[in-house]
Amino acid sequence: MDDSRFVKDFLAVFHKFNYRYSKWEVWNDFLYMAATSMANMIPIAEREEREQRYLSIIHKYPEELRECFPELLAIVTLALDANPEQDFLGSMYHRLQLHQEQKGQFFTPYHISHFMAEINMVGVENEELKKKGYITVSDPACGAGAMLIAFANVARAHGINYQKEVLFFGQDIDLTAALMCYVQLSILGCPAVVIVGDSLVKPDFHPDNDVWYTPFYYLNHWRFQSFFAGKEEVREADVVVDKAEAEKYAEEAGGQLMLNFSKAS
Ligand SMILES: C[S@@+](CC[C@H](N)C(=O)[O-])C[C@H]1O[C@@H](n2cnc3c(N)ncnc32)[C@H](O)[C@@H]1O
Repeated sequence: MDDSRFVKDFLAVFHKFNYRYSKWEVWNDFLYMAATSMANMIPIAEREEREQRYLSIIHKYPEELRECFPELLAIVTLALDANPEQDFLGSMYHRLQLHQEQKGQFFTPYHISHFMAEINMVGVENEELKKKGYITVSDPACGAGAMLIAFANVARAHGINYQKEVLFFGQDIDLTAALMCYVQLSILGCPAVVIVGDSLVKPDFHPDNDVWYTPFYYLNHWRFQSFFAGKEEVREADVVVDKAEAEKYAEEAGGQLMLNFSKAS
């Protein structure tokens, strides 16, 4: 699969900011606004705060550059549509040398993630899935989400509809990494919970953590209720949206951003 067209297009738009802004600032602003545009399709408790931050970010930029942000998100979406077997943002992050900002943070090359997902899949479809109707997968140091993306693709290859039958969890101490993961899992239509926080000291739904739910999580969370049963640390506001309500919000917000592979599996 030739991904070079999307890489070229992404860099061409991204470099329009060069004359005035640092790469690091633009990358983080892009991620925050892309993530918020997807998370805010559902009116959860954090919606207003995220909206305000979105507005304060976009207003830093002159009119002619503002439209570059949705263009970047469209290119990421097209790239993942053309080839879902990749960590597009993770590879752009390295290509733009942004890992230097994070003291040499490195993400796993996608083919290795794929291999590891295959190993983890053995036997899964026969046991856990039949028993509960879904399986869960977690990466407590998720980075841009390569491992989780690979798991989604391997699940699909094994006949599991990951958009309905897999609950994804990612956690990362670094906001930039967590939002890369969130944006990619959202686009791929993964029902996912991505948590910003230290998974050693403050794992999962610790009250200090910032929790991001993908749109497909809301569309499917009723399937995973047995997972959340008895977990008092999950705030009620995070799970109250019912199926019909979630579908209505997704439709209003333009569900076209998320790729729907349901028919393929
Ligand atoms: C080597 S990268 C791997 C990322 C991803 N799992 C992959 O395979 O591409 C390690 C990630 O762990 C995160 N990390 C390091 N310490 C952590 C901690 N205590 N809690 C959560 N994340 C952590 C880093 O921010 C970084 O994104």
